[in-house]
Amino acid sequence: MIEVKNLTKEFSLEDKKFKAVDDVSFKVAGGEIYGIIGLSGAGKSTLVRCLNRLEEPTSGTILIDDKDITSMAKEELLKERKDISMIFQSFNLFNQKTVFENIAYPLEISNVSKSEIESRVNKLLEFVDLTEKRNSYPSEISGGQKQRVAIARAIATRPKVLLSDEGTSALDPANTKQILELFRKIVKELNTTIIMITHQMEVAKDICDRIAVMENGKIIEENTVKGIFAKPKNKRTLSFIENLIEPDESFSWKNLETKGKLLRLSYDEENSKQPVLSNLIKNFDVPINLIQGKINSVIGDSLGYMIVEVLGDNEEVGKVLDYLEENNVKVEVL
Ligand SMILES: Nc1ncnc2c1ncn2[C@@H]1O[C@H](COP(=O)(O)OP(=O)(O)O)[C@@H](O)[C@H]1O
Ligand SMILES: [Mg+2]
Repeated sequence: MIEVKNLTKEFSLEDKKFKAVDDVSFKVAGGEIYGIIGLSGAGKSTLVRCLNRLEEPTSGTILIDDKDITSMAKEELLKERKDISMIFQSFNLFNQKTVFENIAYPLEISNVSKSEIESRVNKLLEFVDLTEKRNSYPSEISGGQKQRVAIARAIATRPKVLLSDEGTSALDPANTKQILELFRKIVKELNTTIIMITHQMEVAKDICDRIAVMENGKIIEENTVKGIFAKPKNKRTLSFIENLIEPDESFSWKNLETKGKLLRLSYDEENSKQPVLSNLIKNFDVPINLIQGKINSVIGDSLGYMIVEVLGDNEEVGKVLDYLEENNVKVEVL
């Protein structure tokens, strides 16, 4: 449904040229949620802005349902843009307009009749669960609610594609969750394709079917979420994953006084299905304490680590290590 071929966007800085997007190609299927993740400056925003030609690509092709966006004349492009909506980190609502008027705006400029606007906006308000805020102004609602208004406005013209540029980055975890739920509902009920840009792996992991990792204007890795987590090929990808599964620094085993041997057990797809800790406790007559752990669920699989303290003599600890090795658990003695 979306096919991007060899897309490049060059900017001139003083007398130098540099490629913010450098020969990027990818395909997104209809009804898919495709994530583009990367550090700040990687070229993510420039890439999505090229998709609706808010930014003119320097070269390359963009096909949406086989229609070539890149070669369209202005008038045709304006029509086509109704099929490609966008939401932003900063919501970009009209502050002088009510919630209702914000959502009605794209319909007004598309010359939809007043009565039709009334009924469609009412349905959209219901869809994003904001019926009771219809007469409020943006300054009177929360960040999460603002983003829901922006989403209602973005889907008012029933677009085929919804682009989200850091759409959840300004929100707290609870509001982020709500917006992601709304994305799921949009895909399911309206069959919209979503391309979402984020620098937050925890967001991409929760919702995307596939993820592309972007660095220095290039897509350096692309896979299903599961594939990205289970077999990251690139160092940058790995660092995104590690940030997600490493503990926060506020609590660390390093500050604890422990008597036994500390082991760090790593989980991946293979061993995460076994109840390793309970098997250890069952099979060995030595006390084993769980010190710290973090497991992330990635579409039904778990990835993460656990730090345990084994109280026992060297021989007993040795047996525990052998057992873990036999069961394919990666162990590091700390
Ligand atoms: N209009 C512009 N003119 C010149 N450089 C730009 C412009 N827009 C973005 N850039 C540069 O392109 C690079 C990628 O930016 P951007 O697409 O915003 O990255 P991201 O969204 O991944 O943070 C950055 O180095 C940025 O400074
Ligand atoms: Mg950006």
